[in-house]
Amino acid sequence: MLRHPPAFHSRRPPETIEERALTDLEQQLHGLSTPSGDRAGDRAGGPWWREAVVYQVYIRSFADGNGDGIGDIAGLRSRLTYLQELGVDAIWINPWYRSPMVDAGYDVEDYREIDPLFGSMADAEALIADCHALGIRVIVDLVPNHTSSRHAWFQAALAAAPGSPERARYWFRPGRGAEGELPPNDWRSRFGGSAWTRVTEADGSPGEWYLHLFAPEQPDLNWDHPEIAQEFLSILRFWLDRGVDGFRIDVAHGLVKDPALPDLGERAVREDEPGPPDTTDHPYWDRDELSDIYREWRRVADSYAGDRMFVAEAWVSDPHRLARYLDGDVLHTAFNFHFLDCAWAAPALRATIDETLAAHVRVHAPSTWVLSNHDVTRHRSRYGSRLAGALGDSGGLSEVDLALGERRARAAALLLLALPGSAYVYQGEELGLWEAPIPEQAIQDPEFARTGRTRDGCRVPMPWSGEVAPFGFSPAGSDVAAPWLPQPAEWASVSAEREAADADSMLALYRRALALRRSLRALGDGELSWALEAPEGVLAFTREPGFQLIVNLSEAPVPLPAGWRVLLASCELADGGTALPVDGAVWLEREL
Ligand code: NOJ
Ligand code: CA
Repeated sequence: MLRHPPAFHSRRPPETIEERALTDLEQQLHGLSTPSGDRAGDRAGGPWWREAVVYQVYIRSFADGNGDGIGDIAGLRSRLTYLQELGVDAIWINPWYRSPMVDAGYDVEDYREIDPLFGSMADAEALIADCHALGIRVIVDLVPNHTSSRHAWFQAALAAAPGSPERARYWFRPGRGAEGELPPNDWRSRFGGSAWTRVTEADGSPGEWYLHLFAPEQPDLNWDHPEIAQEFLSILRFWLDRGVDGFRIDVAHGLVKDPALPDLGERAVREDEPGPPDTTDHPYWDRDELSDIYREWRRVADSYAGDRMFVAEAWVSDPHRLARYLDGDVLHTAFNFHFLDCAWAAPALRATIDETLAAHVRVHAPSTWVLSNHDVTRHRSRYGSRLAGALGDSGGLSEVDLALGERRARAAALLLLALPGSAYVYQGEELGLWEAPIPEQAIQDPEFARTGRTRDGCRVPMPWSGEVAPFGFSPAGSDVAAPWLPQPAEWASVSAEREAADADSMLALYRRALALRRSLRALGDGELSWALEAPEGVLAFTREPGFQLIVNLSEAPVPLPAGWRVLLASCELADGGTALPVDGAVWLEREL
């Protein structure tokens, strides 16, 4: 019998020793008050995913249990108490399936096996059981847009002839030009260059081309083929039967292609630029037919007990298009990348928040809020630099002001966790990790070879403890391999151990915020109202009952409103505790 955690949606006062300790600590150190009264069960609870705080475990960089320098399930299991103490509701684990690891596991060879690098199926089942016993839900990462080129289906397609049923599962086409020497169209790979690679046929002659929106080792599946849909329904069931609580859908906006394969024309240039492409009326992004696929998926998930859910990774330009993935009986949630990609500026943030909420309310779905993940420059570095977008070139990182980035990241955390809906925390942001410089010879990201850009700087293994690398990431011992990406020596100052002992650390801020979020009825799912009297450059909203958030993005301190008590502040307050400094944020409680 599979165990499922209890519903976490009901708000309650601090209950565990850790929570009580945190609130005590808060009061002692900052003279801050905590909300009073028994609020447990006061609100009508919706399903957990409407307001969960989900922690993204980038498994190869979280914790290494066996000393090969790569994170694994054993390492993750050994660190679950850390996640429980942090106070998250769920974890999302990046792909852990059998894979040649060309794209860090997003090239899946077998969707029903755990890669030996990470452990075994028994380890995965034990992890799910451990998490559930601690009240933490588990979301796995499903990769339906493409397989690995080593997947049995693609190997069969290569061995078969043009026009064969084996090739029909992917997008094989003859080339253009007199000898078929040109790709079938001008579509671009997200990792640079053409999205087509030519194969050599069994007789040794140059043959057809196949489509890959990512690396050549990640051939795109043909979702018009009924066998593909059937197989993925079966894969969903396989993991639902093992007790997972949800799926993150990789490239959820890319599965369906215009079968006519029309050229992009002038739009092809935009596809090569850093940052998300314009997905409006596009031949391979955000096609209307996607809803049919996901409606089926939803039906399967809903047939299981225990509120199983989906979160779509869908980079779409228009928030209303994003909401289509959630409309009616389609998916439960989708990442809101507009917020992640937004500059640190009050008007832009407010506009993004408003557009997002409006689009989601219309379809009765909760918004999600994300600041970082394994594909984007860490937000502490972004906020400390003049880099425009999250997916931008990390070349400008030499000009980063990390102190400024930290200050803003602390404020951003309080904003993130006060917004209505569910929030995602990318591993290490709770320690204030920054984008690490990676020497060229150490770069692993397949994107680098074709674009000169790398996502490795946000994927560096976690610093847990101690003064020198690997900072407790791997077990101690002489035969232990170095971490798969090098950790900056300065990360000794941001190890989990160091920050756990420091009441002013980023970790302490996240722990307090998460504990308060659980205890405050106003937070999580629901609505916000912008404060009418907020000065220019200041974001201020209230949530009922009795909560207010203020972030100061103006150029001078702003006085705090009368009639409100400070629950939590991202920085020291100015003017004897009566004003909020620049780049600071506060959570306030209305005085009775
Ligand atoms: C999005 C994933 O987050 C990214 O890491 C990966 O490279 C691509 N999808 C391709 O699967
Ligand atoms: Ca390992």
